[in-house]
This record gives sequence, structure tokens and C-alpha cells, in this order.
Amino acid sequence: MEKIKDALDKAKVKQTGSKARQATIVRNKAGSLSQADNELESIVYNSQNVVQLDSAHLENHRIVAQNKLDPTSWAFDSLRTQVLQKMEENDWRTVAIISPTPSAGKSVVAINLAISIAQQPQKTAMLVDFDLRKPRVAEYLGIKHEKSINDFIVGKAELSEIIVNPGIPRLTVIPTNSPVLKSSETLSSTGFQKLIIELKERYDSRIVIFDLPPILNADDAMVLLPQVDCVLLVLGDGLHTEPEITETMRLLAKSNILGVVVNRTEVELRSYYY
Ligand SMILES: Nc1ncnc2c1ncn2[C@@H]1O[C@H](COP(=O)(O)OP(=O)(O)OP(=O)(O)O)[C@@H](O)[C@H]1O
Ligand SMILES: [Mg+2]
Repeated sequence: MEKIKDALDKAKVKQTGSKARQATIVRNKAGSLSQADNELESIVYNSQNVVQLDSAHLENHRIVAQNKLDPTSWAFDSLRTQVLQKMEENDWRTVAIISPTPSAGKSVVAINLAISIAQQPQKTAMLVDFDLRKPRVAEYLGIKHEKSINDFIVGKAELSEIIVNPGIPRLTVIPTNSPVLKSSETLSSTGFQKLIIELKERYDSRIVIFDLPPILNADDAMVLLPQVDCVLLVLGDGLHTEPEITETMRLLAKSNILGVVVNRTEVELRSYYY
């Protein structure tokens, strides 16, 4: 626990010590939907893009935020409140979910956070699976959608065809169906950079959450970080060594760290701290 406290302290120092980068995106006036957002509304209500979720499948994959009867869903609502507060204060709309090494729980946290945000009446959330190495969002949600980022990459699908509405109001998902070879090259390609800009600027009333691979195992996260407004760091309790956490904080030196989630603690009900 000590090393995690240390990382939490470091994260706090980082936040207070670094002046927040200016958010580059200008938001719509509160409450007014842009033409692109209206277009998105019609995309998500197109029945071809709607996928129904199965509650038992979600539970098996630790996706609980939609179920207020689940004793851990409150933790994600609490995380959501703090995330939204800080993002609104800074006019940030895009957040990357990062961890030092694999299996900290990034995908589980990203999905639950997106669902929890979408449950706020004034908010909409878009969850994008940019872990092109080990995509898990579709699997955990139980989404089987024919077209995904894989098809977009090879020019076989338009953005509008890969946006899925998983039957939860105000939530959209962009899945990746299978691992992509040369993922960091793909993420830095011109086509992908355009996609990221489009996601950030076109649907400008949304909170966009990017699920990413662990930062120490590939340069994918580093490629994407300059494009996002802020980072949520997920640490698996006891999963990372102190040098790994220190190196992660060094790599995040130029990023706006929204907070740290300590996941996979021994006491299940207190699994998620912010
Ligand atoms: N709080 C938790 N307690 C126990 N198991 C958990 C918890 N959170 C996630 N898990 C489990 O840990 C495994 C890894 O979770 P997840 O896929 O979300 O991690 P990840 O950080 O996205 O991994 P990767 O780096 O491989 O993408 C999954 O089997 C998930 O169900
Ligand atoms: Mg993952």
C-alpha cells in the first residue's frame, strides 16, 4: 500500500505543481447540441447500431455501474462525480485510462465510468477502445457488432458505422473487435489522428473515454497522450513495483492527471479509491 500512497502523493504534487494545459476545444454553450451531435443522436437510434446488453454477462465481467443494487456501483458513481467535477472545472472532455503494467483493471474502470457518466441526465459518454493490442471493451460488454475500429482502419467502415449504442441512454461505444498489428504505428497514422480529432471536435457535448494499453508495455499510450485532455491512472493494488510507478509518473509528467484509482484491493467493497 505504501508505494501506492507514494504514487497518490506524487499525483497530488503533480496536479498542484503543474499548471493545467489549456483545453484546446471550445465547447458548445451548455445544453445546446451541435449539428454533429444531432447527427450522432440519429446514428445511435439507428437500429443497426443498437446492441442489447445482458445483465448476467455484465456482472460476470465486473460491469456493475448500471445496476444500483450492486454494492460496488456506488464506488463508480463517486468516481464519476469527482471526474466530472474536475473535467468541467478545466473544460476537459477527453480522458485516457492508463496503468503502468497489465491487468490493473483499466478496461473494467473505463466501462463502469462511462456507464456511470451516461446515467447523469445532463451528460453523455463515448467509450473508445484504443487498446488495439488487447481490446476488451466489446468482450466485457458482450457487444457483437460487425463493424469496429478494425474495419475503419482498413477503410471498410465509416465512423458512423462503428459507433454502437449498447442500449443505455446517452452512452455510445466504439469497439475494437480484434488485435491490430503495428498498433502504435496505426495510432500515429494520419488516418487515426484524423479520427481522434473528429471524436474530440465533432461530438463536442460528450465526455470521451479512451481505454488504452499499459503505458510501460508499449508506446501506444505515449502516442495518444498528447491528444487527450487528461489521464486517469489505475493502479492494481500490489501489482506494480515502485520503479514501475515512478517511471509511469515520469512518463505522465506533461499530462494532466485527473486522479488515481486504486483497484483490486483486498476488501472488495472498498476496491475503488480516487
Ligand atoms: N476490483 C477488481 N477485483 C478483482 N478483479 C478485478 C477487479 N477489477 C478488474 N478485475 C479483473 O482483472 C482482470 C483484468 O481487468 P482489466 O481487463 O479491466 O484490466 P486492464 O488493466 O484493462 O488489463 P490490460 O492491461 O490487459 O488491458 C479481469 O479479469 C477483471 O475482471
Ligand atoms: Mg484493458
